[in-house]
This record gives sequence, structure tokens and C-alpha cells, in this order.
Amino acid sequence: MIKFSKKTYKSHRNTDDSQCEIKAPLVDALENFYKNPMMQFHIPGHTAGNAVHPKFKKLIGERAMLLDTTDEFDNLGTLHPATGPIKEAQELAAQAFGAQRTFFLLGGSTIGNLTLAMCMSKKGKKVIVNRNCHRSILTGMIISGAEPIWILPEKLEEWALWGEIEPASIEKALQENDDVAMVWITNPTYEGVVSNVKEIARICKKYDVPLIVDEAHGCLWNFNKHLPESSLHLGADAVVHSLHKTGGSMSQSSMLHITKGSKFDPDEIERTLQLLQTTSPSMLLMASLDAARANLESKKGKKQLSRAIQYANYVRKKLQKLEGVHVLEATENFNQDITKVFVRVDGLSGKRLESILEIDFNIEVESASDIGVLLLINIGNKKQEIQYLVNAFEQISKAQYSDIYYIENRKHMPMLTPKIVMNPREAYYSEKETIPKKDAIGRISAEVIAECPPGISILLPGELITEAHLPYLNEYKYLEVIR
Ligand SMILES: Cc1ncc(COP(=O)(O)O)c(C=O)c1O
Repeated sequence: MIKFSKKTYKSHRNTDDSQCEIKAPLVDALENFYKNPMMQFHIPGHTAGNAVHPKFKKLIGERAMLLDTTDEFDNLGTLHPATGPIKEAQELAAQAFGAQRTFFLLGGSTIGNLTLAMCMSKKGKKVIVNRNCHRSILTGMIISGAEPIWILPEKLEEWALWGEIEPASIEKALQENDDVAMVWITNPTYEGVVSNVKEIARICKKYDVPLIVDEAHGCLWNFNKHLPESSLHLGADAVVHSLHKTGGSMSQSSMLHITKGSKFDPDEIERTLQLLQTTSPSMLLMASLDAARANLESKKGKKQLSRAIQYANYVRKKLQKLEGVHVLEATENFNQDITKVFVRVDGLSGKRLESILEIDFNIEVESASDIGVLLLINIGNKKQEIQYLVNAFEQISKAQYSDIYYIENRKHMPMLTPKIVMNPREAYYSEKETIPKKDAIGRISAEVIAECPPGISILLPGELITEAHLPYLNEYKYLEVIR
């Protein structure tokens, strides 16, 4: 018979004790779990990595598998309801961001948006929302049955991008519509365009309507005064942050903040999250949120962020000087998150520029449109990488690259005024059929067409398909329409 004793089983594994001066309770709890392993008769069934494909284990490292566990076990606390170190980590995040309550999200900001939609935008109510919102907001409206009242932001024609949301357009929509459940804006845009949230919040307060800000791309703002001010401090009721996008946490991990004085009931948010989130939340992802918040608050993290801002300024300055290279800059109409650098090069489409950067320079960009490429200057980028990037653009500017697909005035995002025929939920659940694209003009779309990134819609359920949509549907042979 094999004998196990608690003493022999405990391995007291070591960790490298690199210290950060800021508390991170969930990281500590996970470290404790790692150092004091128990014999596992619970999920996950790979049992501390024992039943994992060897190649995969080697690839990601043994420790990653040892640390892959979920809440409930080993004094790690629970996510729903929040208890133990998870609760403490969420409270520290709320303090760091200046929120009343902060919730950890394990399906990205997508889950945060779905939750907010379910809490506020009840069936038949209206939601004032910018057309270039992320598709998760549309999904939220399909779930809730709310009716979108679309706000078309300003158009940056030269860049084929959506620009800022005019506060006056929000006020007009509020004047023209009763039964508005909330105003929901995206700030910043994917490319870093920042609207006047303070004024939008003032208008929302005047009409006594809650304001949600999808700040998925702005989670760093609270940690450096050279970045725009977070909507958490400008009068929003709820704010969503994709920490995994730019904040340094692992992919899929995000936060939902309910602001001080919010019209949202945090307990209702918690109950709704419990319905939508996984019942086996990854401790690794949650600890990575705790770690990212602690890092951003630490001296090291602050330094990393101010360095990223310096680098972004440097890249902008250098690229602007190059022949035929243009960088999207703030104007008197809109502010900008300067760490998001949208670049275009004369004679090259964004897609061609992307492939040149990839093939000739081994540089992968965040995204590419027909017009340009989006570069994120991140807290993790190193000085040599920044210089390499600038050098690459210097070479591209001098070289005679050709682009047989380049056409002046290409359009990237469908900046069209939607023709709404049916409510999105009603359309989504109607009888549908799939037909060739050429036969779809004049029919009503039954599907969400919103390519990622950035997940901005071309067509939604309930909208009329017109000739104007065709240039944006090149990838589609068939479309799903209402029967
Ligand atoms: C504005 C905006 N909101 C929400 C999301 C969804 O975020 P996540 O990928 O964290 O689910 C995205 C993703 O790109 C986004 O661009």
C-alpha cells in the first residue's frame, strides 16, 4: 500500500519573491496555494498539470498548470458572491480606480456590457448609443429587447474613421425621445479619439438619464495625468475597462466599475453577473487583474506608463516628419489617447502597410484598415522596439513599395445611416433564411455583421440591406435575412 503523509505530500515549492510595494491579495493567495499544495480531488481534472499533453505542458511551463485552479478551493475565496481574497482584490481595484464597486470580468468587457444591458435597458425602452459601439452592446440589446437610438459621431473622412460624439447630438436625442433607459457611449474609440464626456454627463444628469461609458480602451487613464481623464470622474454611472487590452492583465480579464453616486444598484449588477459569468472562474485570470492593478499603482508601473507616453510622443514626432507618412492627431474638436497611433502612408493601403511591416520587418500591428494601421504603444514596449519601429517607417517612407489594390478615398468603416425596420431582438428571433449576397438588397438583415477588430457593426438584425453596404461585405457570399 502506498502511504501518503501530509508532511511528505507538501512540497513547499519556491517562488521568486520579486516584491511590489502595493498589496495584491489574490496574487498572495495564489502564491500560498502554490507553495502549500493539497492532494486534489476536484476540478480542474488535469490535476495540477498531471494529465496534460506533454508538449502543451512544456510549452506553457509546468508552473502555469500548477496554478490553474478555480475559486472555492484552497481558501482562495469565491467570485459570486465575492468573498475572501477575491473580494479584497475587487475592493482594492475599486479604490485604485475611484469606483464605488468594481467587479472582475472573465469574459472580457463583453460580459460587462451584457450585464449593464440586462440591468438597465428593459424591453421596449430606448438606449441612446453611438453607431460605432462594440458588438457586445448590440448583443446586450438583443438580450434585453431595448431599442437603439443611434447617434452618428463626427466623421473623420480623411481617415475613414468615426470621430468624437457631439454632446449636442446626445441632447437632441434626449429631447426627441421619451422612455430613454440610458445613454451609452464608447470613449475612446478604438483609434483613440476622445469625446467630451464631462459635457455629455452634464446633459444626461439634466435629463436624469444614466450614462454608461464603454472605456474598454482607456483603463490606463487613471494612472497618468498626461492621459485623458477617466469617465469614472466625469459623471458616468458605470464604466467598463478591458484591463487585458492595455492594462497588463491576461487576455479575457476585464473590470466593470459602478461609480460613486451611480444610478445602478451594485447588488443587481452582482446578481446579473452571477447569471452571465462562468461558474468556474480562472484564478490565474483573476490574480492577473489583481496584479495589473497593483502594478499600475506601483512605482515600477507608473514609470512604465510614463515611459510608454514618452515613447508614443517620440513615435508621433518621428513619423510625422517622414515623407508621405501621416499620423492621426487631436484637433480642436477632439482630444486623443496618444498611446494609440493611427498611421497612413501615401500610396499604400493599411492592409498593404500591415503586410510590409509583418513580412519585411517582423512587426505585428494592432489592426489595419483600408486606410492605415493602428499601433499601440504599450506599457510593456521596450526602447529598442520603439526605435526599431521608427526605423522601419523611415525605410518604408524611402522605399518604393507598390500597392496594386490602393485606391484613393477608400472607405474602411461603414459610416452609414442605418435604416431600421425592426427592433433588433424581434429581428434576431424571426424566421430567417440564408440567401446569396446579390439577392439581399432590399431585404432585412437577421444577423449582426461586425468584424473584429474592432467589432463595429456594418449591419444589425432589423436593418435594411442597401447598395451602400456592399463595399463593406466583400468577405460575404451569403447573408442571413428575415424570411
Ligand atoms: C469599445 C469596445 N468595447 C468592448 C469590447 C469588448 O472587449 P473584450 O474583448 O474585453 O470583451 C471591445 C473589444 O474590442 C471594444 O473595442
